[in-house]
Amino acid sequence: MSEILRTVDLAKDYLLPDGEILHVFSGLNFSLDRGEIVAVMGASGSGKTTFLNLLGALDRPTAGKVFLDGEDLSAKNAVSLARIRNVKIGFVFQSFHLLPEFTAAENVALPMLMSGRGRAEAFRRAAEVLGEVGLAGKARCRPAQLSGGEMQRVAIARALVNGPAVLLADEPTGNLDWKTGEAILRLLLDLHEKRGLASVLVTHNEKVSILCEKIFFLERGALERAV
Ligand SMILES: Nc1ncnc2c1ncn2[C@@H]1O[C@H](COP(=O)(O)OP(=O)(O)OP(=O)(O)O)[C@@H](O)[C@H]1O
Ligand SMILES: [Mg+2]
Repeated sequence: MSEILRTVDLAKDYLLPDGEILHVFSGLNFSLDRGEIVAVMGASGSGKTTFLNLLGALDRPTAGKVFLDGEDLSAKNAVSLARIRNVKIGFVFQSFHLLPEFTAAENVALPMLMSGRGRAEAFRRAAEVLGEVGLAGKARCRPAQLSGGEMQRVAIARALVNGPAVLLADEPTGNLDWKTGEAILRLLLDLHEKRGLASVLVTHNEKVSILCEKIFFLERGALERAV
C-alpha cells in the first residue's frame, strides 16, 4: 500500500491566556497508507482533536512536519492549504458543523462550488452523494428539519463530495445515540472501503476502535500504537 499521510516529530504548544505555554504533544511520528483505517483514542484533553486538525491542515504545528501525498504542508501558504483541504481531505465533526440556513443539498454542494465547479455539476454530484448516504429524499431539508443521524449523513456527504483521499473524523458518533451511532459508523466503514480512503477516526468508543485496523492512544504527549 502507498503512503498518503506522514508526520515527522510533530509537536503542538498552545499559548494560554495567562501567558503559560501548554505542551500538548511532541515528537509524534505517524503514517497512514491509502486504504488504511485507524482509530485514535485517549483521555479528554490528551490532544486528539489537536492532532487531527494538524493532519488535516486546519492548524499549523509548533514543530515538526506533516506530509500529505508527499507534499510538506509547512511549506504551503494559507491559500494553498485551503485548496489542499478542499480537494484532498474530508472532515467529519462530532457536532456536524452544517450551515443552518442552507439545505442539505446546498451544504453538500458547497465544497464543489468552492473548488470552482459549476452549479449544475455541483448539485448533480451533491444529489448523487446524498443518495449514497441514504438521504436522497431529504435534499431540500435544512439541518433543523433533520435528525442528528441525518445531519451526520449530510456532513459525511459534504466531506466526500470532492472525492478526497483522506477522511478525518473527530468523534463522528459522539452526539448520537448508540444505535444511530452504529449506523453512522457502518456507513463510514462502507464508504471507506468503497472509495479506498485513508481514514482516521478519533473516538472514545471501544466498539468503534475495534473495527479499525490499528488503534493508537494519545497519552502524556505521546502517540502509542495499541493494536
Ligand atoms: N486553541 C487552543 N488554545 C489553547 N489551548 C487549547 C486550544 N485548543 C486546545 N487546547 C488545549 O489543548 C489540550 C488538547 O485539546 P484537544 O481538544 O486536542 O483534546 P482532545 O483529546 O480532543 O479532548 P476531547 O476528548 O475532550 O475532545 C487541552 O488541554 C485543551 O485545553
Ligand atoms: Mg476532541
